[in-house]
Amino acid sequence: MDSHKQLLSLLRLSLAFLLLSGLHAEARLQRDDAPKKLFVFGDSYVDTGNTRIDQAGSWKNPYGITFPGKPAGRFSDGRVLTDYIAKFLGLKSPVPYKFRKFMPQKLKYGMNFAYGGTGVFDTSSNYPNMTIQIDFFQQLIKENVYTTSDLSESVALMSVAGNDYNFYLATNGSIEGFPSFIASVVNQTATNLLRIQSLGVKKIVVDGLQPLGCLPGTTAPSSFQQCNSTFNDLLNQQTKVHSTFIILDLFDSFMSVLNHPSTSNIKDELRPCCVGISSQYSCGSVDENSVKKYKVCDHPKSAFFWDTFHPTQAGWHAVYNKLQTTNALQQILY
Ligand SMILES: *[C@@H]1O[C@H](CO)[C@@H](O)[C@H](O)[C@H]1NC(C)=O
Ligand SMILES: *[C@@H]1O[C@H](CO)[C@@H](O)[C@H](O)[C@H]1NC(C)=O
Ligand SMILES: *[C@@H]1O[C@H](CO)[C@@H](O)[C@H](O)[C@H]1NC(C)=O
Ligand SMILES: *[C@@H]1O[C@H](CO)[C@@H](O)[C@H](O)[C@H]1NC(C)=O
Repeated sequence: MDSHKQLLSLLRLSLAFLLLSGLHAEARLQRDDAPKKLFVFGDSYVDTGNTRIDQAGSWKNPYGITFPGKPAGRFSDGRVLTDYIAKFLGLKSPVPYKFRKFMPQKLKYGMNFAYGGTGVFDTSSNYPNMTIQIDFFQQLIKENVYTTSDLSESVALMSVAGNDYNFYLATNGSIEGFPSFIASVVNQTATNLLRIQSLGVKKIVVDGLQPLGCLPGTTAPSSFQQCNSTFNDLLNQQTKVHSTFIILDLFDSFMSVLNHPSTSNIKDELRPCCVGISSQYSCGSVDENSVKKYKVCDHPKSAFFWDTFHPTQAGWHAVYNKLQTTNALQQILY
């Protein structure tokens, strides 16, 4: 365990140095230019429509009921982190990679390569992992869809919301092996960051891991009354590693909303709004006769969590407001 900790702190320091020195130098050059494009990589916290329409989840009712009013590929009742970051930059939310051929007029805002369920390594999802997502990006650069000058005016947003950890715990589960697995996720994330930078993107925003011990999937045993601190501590210890290159600290911003829910008009903050009617069902489940097997709460706009893993639009909005009180978002502009 001690040697793991040493390894991790070493990794943390060297990554911090590598990334901060690189990003800092670039940041200064960019001072006067507001970013004009957003490129997005990662998982369901940022995906805005890349998963298949005929598959369960984000393209089925009741996803999207708040925005845009019908299922549209977001893992929420409405907007997700990507939409708020785009808004902060004054851009339209970038087009999902899947729709690039159908919406050529939208390519100018950048592109979203994220797929719900994926990780930096392969997970139970069949969708492209982050390496492949970056390959797609690289291919478009090769095809001159995006030029060097486009890239120099762009920002990348990368989400690593923990599917790698879920997959590890589900398939391997060894707690002894967990620290070194986390180290390899961090290492792979850093490799991905540097690769995106080497392709010419000037600023890269990574979201840090949210408190997994507060997600409804973890808090169900306590009827959504309290976060699992064992779980949070285990991960938080390790996610300080992430915080070396995180600019957006989702751990602190989630916790700050969850600890003071009423300031964001959130009620019963740990209880998910949309749930299966029994444990074999989940949000969006229907039976063979298309009969609904889920329930949606009366006020999605005062729930923080939408389903067992994802915030509502109200949740993301509250997190975004917290992020704006730190100087994190300002760093994207300067
Ligand atoms: C990403 O996916 C590809 C194709 O499935 C696989 O060959 C590669 O090893 C994966 N990369 C990582 C880092 O897991
Ligand atoms: C699973 O855990 C063991 C340690 O208990 C480790 O040796 C092995 O590499 C792990 N497998 C994966 C895929 O991480
Ligand atoms: C970190 O990633 C690099 C490049 O993918 C790989 O060569 C190296 O073995 C990794 N190191 C660890 C500790 O996982
Ligand atoms: C918290 O999570 C840990 C690790 O998954 C588990 O062993 C423990 O029983 C959980 N505690 C509660 C109160 O649910």
